[in-house]
Amino acid sequence: MSWNENLKKVPYGGDYNPEQWPEEIWEEDMKLFKQAGIDTVTLNVFSWASLQPSEDEYDFERLDKIVKLVTDNGMNIIMATSTGAHPAWMAKRHPDILRTDFEGRKRKFGGRHNSCPTSPTYRMYAGRLASRLAAQYKNQKNIIAWHISNEFGGECYCESCEKAFREWVQDRYKTIEEVNKAWNTSFWGHTFYDFDEIVLPNALSEESVWGGRLHTDFQGISIDYRRFNSDAILSCYCLERDEIRKVIPDANITTNLMAFFKPLDYRRWAKEMDFVSWDNYPQPSDSPARIAMSHDLMRGVGDGAPFALMEQTPSVTNWQPYNSLKRPGVMRLWSYQAMAHGADSVLFFQMRRSIGACEKYHGAVIDHVGTGNTRVFREITELGKELWEIGRCSIGMETKSEVAVMFDWDNWWATELSAGPTNEMNYRETITQYYESLRKLNVNVDIISQDSDLTKYKVVIAPLLYMIKDDLDQRIRAFIEGGGSFVTGVFSGYVQESDLVITGGYPGKLRDILGIWVEETDAFPPEKHNHFSYHGQRYFARKMCDLVHLEGAKMLDDYGYLEDFYQGMPVITSRKLGGGRAYYVATESDEDFRAVFLSDVLGKAGVHPLTFTSSDVEVTSRENDEEKILYVLNHGESEGIYELHEDGTELISGIELASGMHRIAPKDVHIIRRPK
Ligand code: GLA
Ligand code: ZN
Repeated sequence: MSWNENLKKVPYGGDYNPEQWPEEIWEEDMKLFKQAGIDTVTLNVFSWASLQPSEDEYDFERLDKIVKLVTDNGMNIIMATSTGAHPAWMAKRHPDILRTDFEGRKRKFGGRHNSCPTSPTYRMYAGRLASRLAAQYKNQKNIIAWHISNEFGGECYCESCEKAFREWVQDRYKTIEEVNKAWNTSFWGHTFYDFDEIVLPNALSEESVWGGRLHTDFQGISIDYRRFNSDAILSCYCLERDEIRKVIPDANITTNLMAFFKPLDYRRWAKEMDFVSWDNYPQPSDSPARIAMSHDLMRGVGDGAPFALMEQTPSVTNWQPYNSLKRPGVMRLWSYQAMAHGADSVLFFQMRRSIGACEKYHGAVIDHVGTGNTRVFREITELGKELWEIGRCSIGMETKSEVAVMFDWDNWWATELSAGPTNEMNYRETITQYYESLRKLNVNVDIISQDSDLTKYKVVIAPLLYMIKDDLDQRIRAFIEGGGSFVTGVFSGYVQESDLVITGGYPGKLRDILGIWVEETDAFPPEKHNHFSYHGQRYFARKMCDLVHLEGAKMLDDYGYLEDFYQGMPVITSRKLGGGRAYYVATESDEDFRAVFLSDVLGKAGVHPLTFTSSDVEVTSRENDEEKILYVLNHGESEGIYELHEDGTELISGIELASGMHRIAPKDVHIIRRPK
């Protein structure tokens, strides 16, 4: 069963913490929720201490009351398991649940995300709580999803984790000889004779922070530690999930992810989740495309399935350096943007602003003033009304994209842990630049992983494809031969899974596919750049420049303007392979270049824009067998325009729109449905 199958409308509401308030307030909440059109609450996110006052004592009385209250008021529930922060008594009695930090310091009680993922005590109690909660609420029909812990994350460097790491390494490599090979331990005489000699890479061993950048002496060890840590924390998710599943076989289980969150490989996580959900907290300076990319990543790790927007602030955060307000209309706009990219819910953190501790100035549906008479509440109520009116809207519909951009956690870790060629390596930024340029061309874009099916796309773009895992190179070749267009660029193809260089010339396994040999790579400091030409225009070459030789590819242009010894060498190459084409971009450049280059690539590959829009207007589509929905979002400050190729119905206003050009007000949203 999928989580959104039985939804009659887009779930609207969010994190509700009545336990922080006296009961008189609860009735007030219910009135205001009704007024705002709120129908879904996430309960019990941080209540472990009250649910379990001591070792064998469990107390669900207050939660029972809250569940009854929201149920009597017709609301659906997302039930959290509360294990995102452990009780103080547990930390005192069982210090093994506490984490050890990067510097090797044992933590005391405090904060949240504070449990050691391999602590047997933590794991025992977390599983038990999930199981008890499931037993307590297994017949509660209005629970639409189970929400495990909260925003899992962090690292632990304790002895238990070190032992678990050794086991993980042994499981992966089987023998110590294989470990030595994988990590190239003959370098600096690091040869291990026994698994027990392996220690975690942190400030006490291989890693250090230099000039604000994390450095490691052994990339192989550090990358494997990150894989291990992600898996170790994931196993905490899985153990709770399995406990719930035992009691409620058809439960829909998730946890709230954080999109581009570096420590956890969400591609691996999504495979264990019934559906992906995530928390969207953009910086005020983020471009609409940057926010869109996070949604597309969250859809992508789940192989394209619709996801849940589990949290967003209705108005303001409190943890950014400068917490600017969401301007009028922006909360609505960003809510629909989530839906436009695959979300099937609109949920907030939080329903009522708390009065104490660090989130008391975080935005909420109900502010400290305690009434519905606020700008934010009025905007929430407006949107609430619309969401009731548009009903299921695009729930369950898929996003069809002809273009994919590859994103991969191993490559994120590996490129940024690399010592050389440049400290300016920024994996996420490099991928984002390509993504943003593509979105400006008004095409749907999937963010895919190395193990995704490439064959459904016309164009696959994989910048900084530094590490090639498994048989990816063969699948890339097959994709191109089958008619696909493939784009990659500088610092790609260098290493295999363990970060060992593939000898015989860069870009390693891609050399033959791309028809080039990269002999050397030059790196520039941020203030320096170079130039190259493309279609007679001059563009910036930044960060890195490869010195490329052609081996079957043809040169689309060269470092024409470059005043350096490699003047005249190719920058952009293209190779025909079977029915498709492989492109190589030997440097990083700017939007000006990408706009031209990518429209050439897309044009040649037969990818057409969804429609025409003016510049600040975003467009995406979702569809099922019967109908197609076009989301048109005006992120600009002035009126925009867009073209409709066919007649359709605008769902929010109910107005029929004829094909042709249409206007859209600043910050407004049009959701246009047409039968297929
Ligand atoms: C996260 C958490 C919430 C809350 C918000 C504040 O997303 O899941 O509990 O702390 O941040 O922005
Ligand atoms: Zn630990």
